[in-house]
Amino acid sequence: MELITKAPKGTVDKLPSEINKWHTVEEVAAKVAETYGCREIRTPTFEHTELFQRGVGGTTDVVQKEMYTFNDKKGRSITLKPEGTAGVVRAAIENGLLNEALPQKLYYFTSCFRYEAPQSGRLREFRQFGVEIFGADSPICDAETICMVNDIFRFLELDNVSLEINSIGCPECRAKYHEALKAYYEQYKDQLCDTCKERLERNPMRLLDCKSEICHGFAENAPIILDYLCDNCETHFETVKSTLDKMHIKYTVNPRIVRGLDYYTNTVFEFVSDSCGAQGTVCGGGRYNGLVEEIGGKPLSGFGFAMGLERLLMVMDAQNCAYSPAKQCDLYIAGTDPTSSAYAATLVRQLRQYGFWAECDIVGRSLKAQMKYADKINARFSMVLGENEINSGSAELKNMKTGEKLTVSIGDNFAEKVNSILMDIE
Ligand code: HAM
Repeated sequence: MELITKAPKGTVDKLPSEINKWHTVEEVAAKVAETYGCREIRTPTFEHTELFQRGVGGTTDVVQKEMYTFNDKKGRSITLKPEGTAGVVRAAIENGLLNEALPQKLYYFTSCFRYEAPQSGRLREFRQFGVEIFGADSPICDAETICMVNDIFRFLELDNVSLEINSIGCPECRAKYHEALKAYYEQYKDQLCDTCKERLERNPMRLLDCKSEICHGFAENAPIILDYLCDNCETHFETVKSTLDKMHIKYTVNPRIVRGLDYYTNTVFEFVSDSCGAQGTVCGGGRYNGLVEEIGGKPLSGFGFAMGLERLLMVMDAQNCAYSPAKQCDLYIAGTDPTSSAYAATLVRQLRQYGFWAECDIVGRSLKAQMKYADKINARFSMVLGENEINSGSAELKNMKTGEKLTVSIGDNFAEKVNSILMDIE
C-alpha cells in the first residue's frame, strides 16, 4: 500500500511550483544551441540493448552495472537509455541524416536511466540536454562546441562552474597507453575489484574511472595519456587549447579525465562545480570519431556533450541564479449565480484566444469562495459578473495587487479591450 504513494528510489517529481526553473534552462539551452545551427531531435526512450553494448562499451560501469534492461514479450532485450548519444547516432544513421549537408548538428532533451546508488546529484532517472555534431573534424568544432556550453552557462548567469579538458588520443596512441596502464596496474592486480581484474585485460582505461574506493586510489599515480599522444592528436589538442584561449574561455588541463563511456577519442571535457553533490560534473562530452562506424554507419567523426539538468539546477540554486518568473493567472472572472458563471465561461474563452491564463468557477462555489480561490492562485486581475453586469454590458476589472478598478465593456471585443488594458499595465 505504502509503495504506490512513493516514487521509486532515485527518481524525483518535477512539481508545478518549480517548473519555471526547468523552463528557464530548457529555453536558454535550446535557444543557444539553435544559434549554433543545431536542430532538435527526439528519439525513443528505449533501444535494443546491443546498441548500448556496442556504442557505450561492454566494459563500462554504465553497461556492466547500471542499465535498466528487460526482455519484451517477444524475448527481445530492451534497455532504457542510459545516455543520449548512442540513440541519436542510431537515429541519424537510420534516417539518413548523415547523408544531408554536413556537419549535421543536433540537440535533444531526454530522460536517462542508470541503476546507480542514489545520492545528492545522482539519480536513477535524470534529464539531460545534449548536442551531437557529425562530420566536423576540425579542432575548431571542439572549441566551438565547448564554447556553446559556456554560452549557455553565461546566459543563465552561472559562474561557479569550471572547465577541465583533456585528450585521450586516437586508437593508435591509446594502444601504447594501454600497455603502460597494464604494466602499472599489474603490481596491484590482486587488490583490484573483480570487475577491474577482468577489465585490466580487455580495457585498462576503464580502471581509471572505477567507482570502488580501492581502485580509485590506485588511479591517482597511474600513467597519464597526455604522455602517449601521437603527433596528430597532440596538434589537434594544441589547436583546441589555443582556440579556447582566443575565445577567452578559461580551462585547466586535467589529464585524469577519461570519461566513463568507451566511445571517446581525442578531446574530452567536463564542466565541474562543487555545488552539485559528490559527483561534481554538470556537463561532460568530447569527440567520438569511431562511434558512427561502430554502430553501422559510414566512417564519420562526432563531437558532443550532455549536461545533467538536475545538477545544473542544483548549481543555479546554490548560486541564487534568477529564473524566468512562474506563470500566473491573468484574470479570474467570478459569477454570482449559475447564469453569470456560464456567461463568465464564454468571456474566459475569449481571453484564452489571446493567450491569457483566464479562469472562471468550474466547481460551483459561492462568490466569497471564488474570490478566495482567485487570491490563492495569485490572479493578477479579477472581475465579478452578476445580473446587473450582464444587463448593463459592463463590469469592473480589479487589479488584485493595487485594488484599482476599471470599467470594461463585456460585449463585443471584450478580449481585445482587456488585452490593451493589460498590455498598458505591463
Ligand atoms: P555523462 O558524463 O555520462 O555523458 O553524462 C552527462 C551528464 O549527465 C553528467 O555530467 C551529469 O551532469 C549527468 N548525469 C550523469 N549521470 C547522472 C545521474 N546518475 N544523476 C544525475 N545526473 C547524471 C554522457 O551521457 C554522454 N552521452 C555525453 C556526450 C554527448 N558525449 C558526447 N556527446
